[in-house]
Amino acid sequence: MEWWKQTSIYQIYPWSFQDSNGDGIGDLQGILGRLDQIQDLGVETIWFSPFYQSPGQDFGYDISDYTSIDPRFGTMETCDRLINEIHKRKMKVVLDMVMNHTSDKHPWFLESKSSKESSKRDFYIWRKGKNKKPNNWISMVGTPGWNYDKSTDEFYYSNFLSFQPDLNYRNPKVKKEMFGVLDFWLKKGVDGFRLDIFNSIYKDESFKDNPFSFRFFPTPDNHDEAFFQKKQYNLNLPESFQFAKEVRKHISKYKQKPFLVGEVSGSDSVLKSFLGEKADGLNLVFQFELIHFEYKSKFFIDLLEKNEREFPAPFTPTYVLGNHDQRRYIDRLGGDLRKAKVLSAFQFLARGIPVVYYGDEIGRQEGRISNFLGKDPIAKMNRFVPLFLSNLLGIYINRDNCRLPMLWDDSNEAGFTTGKSWLPVGKFKISDTVSGQKKKENSLWNHYRSLFHLRKGNSVIKEGNLETKSSSHSDVLCFERKLKEKVVVVYLNFGEENGKESIPKGSKLLYQFGGAEVKGGDLQLVGHSGAVFEFGLRK
Ligand code: NOJ
Repeated sequence: MEWWKQTSIYQIYPWSFQDSNGDGIGDLQGILGRLDQIQDLGVETIWFSPFYQSPGQDFGYDISDYTSIDPRFGTMETCDRLINEIHKRKMKVVLDMVMNHTSDKHPWFLESKSSKESSKRDFYIWRKGKNKKPNNWISMVGTPGWNYDKSTDEFYYSNFLSFQPDLNYRNPKVKKEMFGVLDFWLKKGVDGFRLDIFNSIYKDESFKDNPFSFRFFPTPDNHDEAFFQKKQYNLNLPESFQFAKEVRKHISKYKQKPFLVGEVSGSDSVLKSFLGEKADGLNLVFQFELIHFEYKSKFFIDLLEKNEREFPAPFTPTYVLGNHDQRRYIDRLGGDLRKAKVLSAFQFLARGIPVVYYGDEIGRQEGRISNFLGKDPIAKMNRFVPLFLSNLLGIYINRDNCRLPMLWDDSNEAGFTTGKSWLPVGKFKISDTVSGQKKKENSLWNHYRSLFHLRKGNSVIKEGNLETKSSSHSDVLCFERKLKEKVVVVYLNFGEENGKESIPKGSKLLYQFGGAEVKGGDLQLVGHSGAVFEFGLRK
């Protein structure tokens, strides 16, 4: 089975992981110094949020040069060393690739906006407007998608923020340039790309108005209907599904067998279109259902069954608990570390790819920075919305709060920097840090470490199929993974009450947590505990 179907992904947000030069911003040298620890945790693939040259208005998601490193983070030489050192430790590297848009400071855009006759004019989407916008398209953040540019008296389109103009993929020269960028990094040996808002790559050629929708708020897994619009003409176009196949084909010739994971959103049928009917599109897409989990076994049973029905092998589901745009999962759990263990065990033991956001492994909590004080451009745009109101409405505005520095130890700024951190580290105890948790056997960090290593060393968990099973208590989720003659069975108690399960004869206990115990052939599951067994089908 292909390596990317079995891997686990750990996301590093370079701004906040580890600073090495005291400027208060994380950097590549800092990450290099932490690689042994990441390897020890058991990580298989590291995904880096962007560290390319960028004005930093959207913290790297506004790129002004795709093939150079932003001096904030280091040099190309350090980057080469980082890729090499990751590979030496038998881990893989995935870079974030923002193909949809560039920064408005990118030389292509500066050239494009300079004149209607510019050779780069068609690199972006320009339309005439006659005192009003070319059509009603709304961006993914709820602002008008068209931006007026005085110098040539036309509008350019941006499906995110106005300083992120969308590239025009109907122009073959754009494709060629961007494939060149992919080649540049693939030749350096990177093992894949996370494709930023890939659902937005193509816009409809007719430029027709989008129809009305009653829905206002988008969710992480549905941007298709939002801000009173059905995004029929500016999201999820058939050309984007087709382009997924083209990119896949393009990268497939590289010997490291790289993969693509798309940040897309929509119904399962939209996700399947990105994956391709013959599994020949994006290798994986992020599935965001866990971002709004209900901590009840029923939710997880339904999710597993749905994924097995809609995304059977050769498709591989992904399980995303958080990222640099979403509330931290531990806060969604009210800080309950027992529940965090059950949830992460689910994520690692289901059939699919667990995607872990840096700090999840220590239960790193969110900040409470107001929208008014936010550095995040989305917070700045909504600075007069009080935090309590956005929380009440369940909309996530100030993404600074999930991007706070990693908590390493009890030295200056939790060991993140010797200077002053770019975002406040906030209050913490030594038991919240990596170094504190490493010393405590039943800490969340040690639990994650066990899960990473358990997966890594067990082909049934990595490759086996999945079937949900009945259990003796409605709060207990039970499922089996099966590969050839071997079965792994998982029990997770999502309730406060005790559960008791009879375990299959001849089972070997692989892992238990949260107070689960085997007594006289039975598994005793106290509230929020779990256990994993393995047995053979042949006598
Ligand atoms: C999605 C990224 O995850 C987010 O952080 C970024 O602001 C937008 N795309 C725009 O690139």
